[in-house]
Amino acid sequence: MAGLGQGAASTFPAIDAMPEYALVAGADLNPAMRAGFEATYPGTRAYDTIAAMCAAPDIDAVWVATPNRFHCEHALEAMRHGKHVIVEKPMAISLDEADRMVEAAQRHGVRLACGHTRSLSIWNRAMRRIALSGDLGAVTAIHIWAYTDWLIRPRTADELDPEQGGGIVFRQGPHQIDTVRLLGGGLVRSVRAQTGRWLAARPVPGYYTAFLEFENGTPATIMHNGYGYFVMSELYPWVAADERFSDADRARMRSELVAGTRDDDGEKEEWRIGGRRDPTKIRHAGRPGWKPFDLGPVEVSCERGVMRNAENGIVVYSDRGREELDLRDLQRPEADPSGGLSLAILEEFYASIVDDRPLYHDGAWGRATLEVVLALITSARERREIMVSRQVAMPDSYDAGLSVLKVGAA
Ligand SMILES: NC(=O)c1ccc[n+]([C@@H]2O[C@H](COP(=O)([O-])OP(=O)(O)OC[C@H]3O[C@@H](n4cnc5c(N)ncnc54)[C@H](O)[C@@H]3O)[C@@H](O)[C@H]2O)c1
Repeated sequence: MAGLGQGAASTFPAIDAMPEYALVAGADLNPAMRAGFEATYPGTRAYDTIAAMCAAPDIDAVWVATPNRFHCEHALEAMRHGKHVIVEKPMAISLDEADRMVEAAQRHGVRLACGHTRSLSIWNRAMRRIALSGDLGAVTAIHIWAYTDWLIRPRTADELDPEQGGGIVFRQGPHQIDTVRLLGGGLVRSVRAQTGRWLAARPVPGYYTAFLEFENGTPATIMHNGYGYFVMSELYPWVAADERFSDADRARMRSELVAGTRDDDGEKEEWRIGGRRDPTKIRHAGRPGWKPFDLGPVEVSCERGVMRNAENGIVVYSDRGREELDLRDLQRPEADPSGGLSLAILEEFYASIVDDRPLYHDGAWGRATLEVVLALITSARERREIMVSRQVAMPDSYDAGLSVLKVGAA
């Protein structure tokens, strides 16, 4: 694991639980993270640089979870040493970086997995399989709206600097963009967007809304308001109790930001390995029900129906009426604080390396999502529609074995 911060800590339980993987080593500049990692996973080794870790001969693959501005550098370092790589979202902060990463994977003959995003959740993958079955006709529109407290949670300086891949568009855009690309086939044609910076104490976009049009004319809208006044879990009673912060917490956090008394670094440490809210210490049940997380509820309109999220799966409205599909049994049983995303990408990555199966979330897929992130930012700045040209389709064969309809009938 390259970078032993908050994202890494929420990924370790899945790696640790999967029989396909052995957690061998981690690297971080911060000695407290290294100590926390070695204490949590006895027998592992902690390095103080990514380069030293990547030189180790007993490591087959590296997960890059350093800040966004280092994704390219650290992925290239790992691939140069012949390691397969999973890189966090966004895969990079420019298309030039993404091109170099795709080229390096080809040159070194290694796998580069991108797209550790909520598109991988079983709820979205099931909706895609139903759409592809043709039962409801073609997908005609996709909508995802999220209200979260993303911007007012503890943030490091790089997370608040757009030049370093900070702000809500770089950090959260990939979840919604990957998801609409998965459901819409992958080939976005154009993007029109606006962003908002509404809190002087957080001088970075904390809001965006975008209208995406696919090559085939299908529209999609995505929206994320991260200012934490309203969080959408309030609408889903089975989720509300899981929220990290209460309404009172959020009001206090915002007022401390405005007053300049907030200790972002100290609070963020609490969510990292060894911290008070260390994700590796929280017991997560395997096969949980649906939660909006930071993605938001997903609604897919089709020619002859609509699909949306429900407590344990999805609801399908069609000419047959209303059917609720319980999808929990389609998830792997291992506990995963990310809600199944880490297990899903790790499973796909392993199959691509060991069984020579296709890697669907490859560099080209991640680059296409990054292109939409960058188009969204440009559209907001220039107040015009931006055409995109580096898009790739998701092959129908992805998830071909996912038997959603069988679960629904059970
Ligand atoms: N897919 C997801 O759901 C998800 C969730 C959380 C974070 N992430 C991603 O993880 C990445 C990191 O985010 P985070 O919230 O964990 O941040 P973080 O600040 O908690 O962790 C980053 C870690 O990298 C270390 N680091 C920084 N520069 C380094 C360097 N040059 N060499 C070695 N170590 C270095 C820091 O010391 C820190 O421990 C981001 O790309 C973010 O998008 C993804």
